[in-house]
Amino acid sequence: MKRPYVIINCAMSADGKIALPNRKQLRISCDEDIKRMYNLRNEVDAVLVGIETILSDDPKLTVKEKYVKNPKHPLRVVLDGKCRTPKDALILNDSAKTLIIAGEGNEKQFDFEHVEVVGCKTDSRGHIDLDCVLDLLYQKGVKKLLVEGGSTVIWSFLKRRFVNDLYIYIGPYIIGGKNTPTVADGVGIKNEDELILLKIVDINRLGPGVLFHYQLIL
Ligand SMILES: NC(=O)c1ccc[n+]([C@@H]2O[C@H](COP(=O)([O-])OP(=O)(O)OC[C@H]3O[C@@H](n4cnc5c(N)ncnc54)[C@H](OP(=O)(O)O)[C@@H]3O)[C@@H](O)[C@H]2O)c1
Repeated sequence: MKRPYVIINCAMSADGKIALPNRKQLRISCDEDIKRMYNLRNEVDAVLVGIETILSDDPKLTVKEKYVKNPKHPLRVVLDGKCRTPKDALILNDSAKTLIIAGEGNEKQFDFEHVEVVGCKTDSRGHIDLDCVLDLLYQKGVKKLLVEGGSTVIWSFLKRRFVNDLYIYIGPYIIGGKNTPTVADGVGIKNEDELILLKIVDINRLGPGVLFHYQLIL
């Protein structure tokens, strides 16, 4: 079965956190990393996030002209089991197409031509089945997919080993907080033999931080 090439990209603090303790967004990336992120976004066919990222950050998920000339704007995809994307969310603006993947039976239509809602089967937790997501995206012409978060969605992709490249920018900050989101939350592994093994492909200093490029050891 053919699937998109999957790239995960995120920015974390030195203590592994990706947002504030109240789950609100904060800028961890430096200018160089933001430019790299927009160039990466412009290279892929689709960019995907979970519904909680939409609700907490309200991202546009487009490519800023300030960083990329003549941006392409990839398809924006939200994993949204219960179709909770607010009608006024910026991801529904008309700067690019948006695909909302809901749980089967929870599809809700939005009155915008550039927004499509499709249903996929879900697991026992109500999370969208990633086999279904990747099949669907490939059928829609998505050959390269960028997963930008948040923690629960990144965990799901890592758990299933549906990751070709993992980029983590580490900003020189400590955020702290027991419940602050980290790169990969979800339920985590149960035993040492379930460890998700990574190899380092490249390490680069970027502004005041460091960019790690990993791949999974399968
Ligand atoms: N620093 C960074 O690079 C970065 C980037 C993005 C986000 N963030 C931060 O990440 C935080 C949000 O992360 P989060 O973990 O709370 O939420 P999330 O990963 O954005 O969304 C998780 C939700 O997506 C839905 N979902 C549907 N199918 C799923 C699947 N197969 N796997 C996982 N989730 C699925 C579930 O909600 P339903 O059950 O309703 O479907 C789930 O609760 C925010 O604080 C945001 O600021 C940081």
